[in-house]
Amino acid sequence: MGRIDRLIAEMTLAEKLGQLTMTAADYAVTGPVITPLSEDAIRSGTIGNLLNLYGAAPTRRIQKIAVEESRLHIPLLLGFDALHGHRTVFPIPLAEAGLFDPAAWESTARVTAEECAGDGLHMTFAPMLDVSRDPRWGRIAESPGEDSFVGSAFAWAKIRGFQNGSLADIGAVAACAKHYVAYGAVTAGREYSPTDMSEGMLREVYLPPFRAAVEAGVAAIMPAFTDLNDVPMTANAPLLRDVLRGELGFDGVIISDYHAVAELLNHGVAGDLAEAAALALKAGVDIDMMSDAYRLGLPVALQRNLVAMEDIDASVRRVLSLKERLDLFQDPYRRGRADTGMTAQSRALARAIGARALVLLKNDANVLPLAARKIAAIGPLADAGSEMRGPWGGAGRPEDCVSVLQGLTQTGLDVRHAPGVAIDGDDLSGVATALDLCADADAILLCLGEAALMSGEAASRAHLGLPGRQQDLADAVFEKAAGKPVIVVLFSGRPLAVPKLVSRAHAVLAAWFPGCEAGHAIADVLTGKVSPSGRTAVSWPRAVGQVPIFFGERPGGRPFNPNDHFTSHYSDLENTPLFPFGHGLTYGDFELSNLRALPGDPLTVKVDVENRGAHAAEETVFLFLNQKRPGVTRPLLELKGFEKIALRPSERGTITLTLPRPTGQAELFAGPNAASLLSVSI
Ligand code: NOJ
Repeated sequence: MGRIDRLIAEMTLAEKLGQLTMTAADYAVTGPVITPLSEDAIRSGTIGNLLNLYGAAPTRRIQKIAVEESRLHIPLLLGFDALHGHRTVFPIPLAEAGLFDPAAWESTARVTAEECAGDGLHMTFAPMLDVSRDPRWGRIAESPGEDSFVGSAFAWAKIRGFQNGSLADIGAVAACAKHYVAYGAVTAGREYSPTDMSEGMLREVYLPPFRAAVEAGVAAIMPAFTDLNDVPMTANAPLLRDVLRGELGFDGVIISDYHAVAELLNHGVAGDLAEAAALALKAGVDIDMMSDAYRLGLPVALQRNLVAMEDIDASVRRVLSLKERLDLFQDPYRRGRADTGMTAQSRALARAIGARALVLLKNDANVLPLAARKIAAIGPLADAGSEMRGPWGGAGRPEDCVSVLQGLTQTGLDVRHAPGVAIDGDDLSGVATALDLCADADAILLCLGEAALMSGEAASRAHLGLPGRQQDLADAVFEKAAGKPVIVVLFSGRPLAVPKLVSRAHAVLAAWFPGCEAGHAIADVLTGKVSPSGRTAVSWPRAVGQVPIFFGERPGGRPFNPNDHFTSHYSDLENTPLFPFGHGLTYGDFELSNLRALPGDPLTVKVDVENRGAHAAEETVFLFLNQKRPGVTRPLLELKGFEKIALRPSERGTITLTLPRPTGQAELFAGPNAASLLSVSI
């Protein structure tokens, strides 16, 4: 008999349910604290998994209780949210997606995994793979953006980085892909609200990143809080058992979201905790995070014959197998041998990735890179190091984060600063001081946007403009600047609808939340040390009324025609986004030409690229497809590939991409974004 069979044979019901329970410690607060952590419960084997505890010493201490003081000596599984870094905080996922560089995505996951493992962790609740086309939803910050091809590539890269080819690796952690599925389409962008969509849309857009995660060997998957087409995901047997386990072949662990099993009562599908627990277990959820529904409800559910012992055993087996794959039975203390802080290398990576994730949205008359020496750094986000961490700062310390002011000052520029206004609130009393700084400066840097916690979980916004009185500050600065360059550095966890700000600024740099090296990364781009190369992985609306806005629309029967009133349009705003998917300028000047498709299957597509500008830079090329299918409509553009190329001035290169040969009539498009494209019929 193998170890797992032997253990299952020996376990009491309470011990089995302990392995199916995850409870939170208090090193981070990621939800309401309902069940406090009890060391006695670990000792008695009735809690087998923890979240929100990290650090070599504390994790070792708690693991020792499980391994040395519990009857069966089963090690704990320790998990934590490391969405965009752990000790070293990298740019938020929405920003990192804009690198369009799988090797870079993998590299940050690798460092994150090493840091988590050094801190005694075995699992991270990442990557987050929810495609989202709704910037009102705060969790778009954690997502790879609006496109499922990008989400799928992101899934592969992140899982490779976290799991490092083998869960037994001392520097690997188990990845937990989340939130299965379609959470990114919550109604009206309001957090935790229901989702409703066709099966076609689900399979075309929202499911593929999870398929990719399973193919990449992801160890765990977390169902979304939401209900989809009237069935809560935590109890969604058709999607969890039939599609995820059956069709996609996932045989890893399914972990509920925080308190989601008990919330089946709020959804109205369960009458009591026993029913809730039975619904979740039957649907395939192995671990109950923070509801205590399995420990309290499953014994009752067993008596009522709502579940069988085999159902419980199947889940226990999956949890123990994961612990075995992580090599925890062999050596429960193998991770967490020493606290890992940031290193010079991890900081350097954060700086490089931070700079590459910045998206230069606008650069009139090439005001960037900065020629000016005397800079007025105005705005509430200029000297806001801790905000730079973004909404899931992991174990990153605020004092380790570099503000724009610090980063720029270190370059030797003469930088004066006044916040002018706070991020939020109505106080305009600081505006006059800020305006005074403009008089003496050669260029004005306006650092505006959201606070870190205005995006992320439970942070939906109905307005997508600048919070508080920041637009008033900007308007006053534009008046005062009298022709001096005004450069906006915009911080946010989502695209903002800021057409007025964009039209008046000379340059706009979307910084998102760049992480702990923010100030250095931003200074590198502003001064021209690094040419910006980030591309927005999500369309920017002009107004909230355009949401959802994305490039993969269907044509409709009456596509917009400016000469025909009875075609698809708004009467008070144009249809186009403020910035399309893929938009982002560089300091180079690239020309794409000679798009061609070579015969064969897969199809090979080539396009030539030349840098006609004066700066070395990196260009990104996107390949889109439009396909005709009998009887069904297809998106105007479907992303099928992307590639980057670094070219010096006057240098030329060729990008080669492959894709499965489409059947029937199709057209290929290539370009730097979803609005300016070369095309070829195939
Ligand atoms: C709730 C969030 O939805 C989920 O993404 C996260 O992993 C858990 N809390 C644990 O912190």
